[in-house]
Amino acid sequence: MENRRLLISDVDGTLLGDDDALGEFAEWYHRHRNRLRLVYNSGRFVHSVMTAVESTELPEPHAVIGGVGTEICCGRSNSRICDWPRCGDGWQPLRICSLLSRYDELELQPPELLSDYKISYYAQEIANDLIEEIHCRLAELSCRVELVYSSGRDLDILPAGVNKGSAAAYLASHWRVSTDQVFVSGDTANDLAMFKQGFRGIVVGNAHNELRRLDCPSVFQAKRAHAAGVLEGLSHWFGPDPEVDFTAKSTKRGQAER
Ligand code: GLC
Repeated sequence: MENRRLLISDVDGTLLGDDDALGEFAEWYHRHRNRLRLVYNSGRFVHSVMTAVESTELPEPHAVIGGVGTEICCGRSNSRICDWPRCGDGWQPLRICSLLSRYDELELQPPELLSDYKISYYAQEIANDLIEEIHCRLAELSCRVELVYSSGRDLDILPAGVNKGSAAAYLASHWRVSTDQVFVSGDTANDLAMFKQGFRGIVVGNAHNELRRLDCPSVFQAKRAHAAGVLEGLSHWFGPDPEVDFTAKSTKRGQAER
């Protein structure tokens, strides 16, 4: 087993959203990067996450999971793990699109947000009953899918068993990191699957109710928002570890203190 811990975090609304807090997180991470591998797990595709890495203070990750768990890329070269996602005969994109085109409540997202393994719609504030109905209709057509509805707006349709949580579990096992050494953070329902893998969870303070109402010992509800909430959660989970220093040491603060 690897002895390095693993932080798998959502990006938009979790690490991104407050530049000062992100700066604090980046500074902390750089001090501890030899003890912690960093993975981004986003609804965006990997190339879009990497654009955010180039244009913000998001630290360089060891891997990126993109498209709500449908792609995993590792290392500096961002090479894609080829045997992921695993989907069986139940993944039938044409049938899925044909059925869903009958629902006025659903609007297909633009082509750049779709892939062979991710069919996504905008669906403003739809009821759970409708999601269940769609699931049943698809099952009647022998389509086996994962439906992920988040932020009262996005409906992602993915191959059965593929989501942010299963992709995170795949990567942890690929790197031989034990479950109790994996920390996950997020802010909306597409992150929910990450909190169901037995990892140590962090829900940031600005999270949607979908996650705020999660109440279980493996999930820490941070008070602070965005990246500051992630740091608060890590500090909670790491406990009194003398090797992991949570005091702020940024140059800006150092200068102010002098
Ligand atoms: C990101 C993706 C979008 C998806 C949403 C929720 O915004 O671009 O396609 O529906 O995340 O997972």
